[in-house]
Amino acid sequence: MTIGIQTAAYLFASILFILSLGGLSSQESAKRGVFYGIIGMAIAILATVLGEGVSGQVYIIAAIAIASVIGLMLARKVEMTAMPQLVAILHSFVGLAAVLVGFGSYLDPKTHTLEGAEHIIHLTEVYIGIFIGAITFTGSIIAWGKLEGKVRSKALLYPGRHAVNIVLIIICVVLGVLFAQQHGTSGLPHLLIMTAIASFIGVMLVMAIGGGDMPVVVSMLNSYSGWAASAAGFMLGNDLLIVTGALVGSSGAILSIHMCKAMNRSFFSVILGGFGNAPAAKGEAKAMEGEVTALNHEEVAVLLKEAKSVVIVPGYGMAVAKAQYPIYEMVQVLRKEGKNVRFAIHPVAGRLPGHMNVLLAEASVPYDIVLEMDEINDDMPDTDVVMVIGANDVVNPSAQDDPASSIYGMPVIEVWKAEKVIIMKRSMSAGYSGEDNPLFYKQNSEMLYGDAKDSVIKILDYLRG
Ligand code: TAP
Repeated sequence: MTIGIQTAAYLFASILFILSLGGLSSQESAKRGVFYGIIGMAIAILATVLGEGVSGQVYIIAAIAIASVIGLMLARKVEMTAMPQLVAILHSFVGLAAVLVGFGSYLDPKTHTLEGAEHIIHLTEVYIGIFIGAITFTGSIIAWGKLEGKVRSKALLYPGRHAVNIVLIIICVVLGVLFAQQHGTSGLPHLLIMTAIASFIGVMLVMAIGGGDMPVVVSMLNSYSGWAASAAGFMLGNDLLIVTGALVGSSGAILSIHMCKAMNRSFFSVILGGFGNAPAAKGEAKAMEGEVTALNHEEVAVLLKEAKSVVIVPGYGMAVAKAQYPIYEMVQVLRKEGKNVRFAIHPVAGRLPGHMNVLLAEASVPYDIVLEMDEINDDMPDTDVVMVIGANDVVNPSAQDDPASSIYGMPVIEVWKAEKVIIMKRSMSAGYSGEDNPLFYKQNSEMLYGDAKDSVIKILDYLRG
């Protein structure tokens, strides 16, 4: 393939990637967006593999075939609830790829003939690419561990951690300056030491972030992985990789800023690994006051029959239980009886941006009864019954009134303002942030223990019977 055809193919693929991002911005056009992305990626791979100066195509195609089979098998197997973990681990691959490309490019004898400014620029690309790549690699592995429940989700905060981070970054800058003065491969020790430090920074950056703030971390690592890919593009002299990496990097950064706004967090405090997490550390957590009372399924059905307005707040537990289908059946029964039934969606409910919206759309719940937190919070005092189904952190009043809580300051759905709140979950255990929930102890709250799907099916039986 000539350079001209390859450049045209790269340009076409870049346009498809931009169209793909545009398509992903709404539920109606998302499928089209994914389709554009697939076509763009297929063109990009073909144009690269068949490009000038590339040899050993047989090995490359064999590697692609094996990787595709593994990817397909994993994607088919993965549950909707495990998607964030999959995304996090995929980000780690991008980080690792940037590190490997960086070392490969540094050790490549062809790059040792570069002189003057070209030499310095090349070394800077290598250094920055490996730095971002190593942080992305280890940070994403820790994020995967936290989402998978293998690493505890609470923030690991130790005194003086900011000072340690700053000293480590200064060491990396000094090493970088020394590295840029080396010739041949004599800068390898500098590069190896910096890689070890950057890997450590990646671990500590994500360890310092509490469970409640993980949504921002996942989108932030998505952004880092884009910049790592872009840096790899510079090292390989591949324009398409530069453009694609920049698209992923900037869209991930925009998503992170949106998430931070939704959660009332400072963007910089999160990207700097819990900088300004101060509220979380202030004072002792409030002791739980009040008594926990529980209802059975029949009693909940009676409450629903008497109610005129009902709000359902779904959370991660609804995804685990796959309760969205019977929930919608229950909603249809209640609406037939003339009740005003709506859903209230918190922006970070579940484990993925838009997680609850996707599940409800899957069960064919009409969009017009699915409201965002800001649209419905004011209606809470006029609501007869709120059903909290598998949600916990997103309805935790500590976010408003306990400065010692790690989720303090995060906007929540104010369910406790309703006449009656029914909380459906299996036990009294805490939510993802690890914080206890005083909602369960409020006078107008009642627990309904059990798996969300089983419980909804039993309530449905009573409603129909
Ligand atoms: P969580 O706070 O995680 O609480 C979910 C609750 O569901 C748990 O307390 C659990 O209690 C219950 N549950 C689990 N399986 C259940 C089942 N089969 N039936 C009934 N209940 C079940 O969920 P949330 O309120 O949706 O909040 C989301 C949290 O995740 C926030 O802290 C958010 O910051 C974080 N997060 C969000 C994202 C995104 S982007 N959305 C990404 C990463 C992290 P039991 O064990 O007692 O049943």
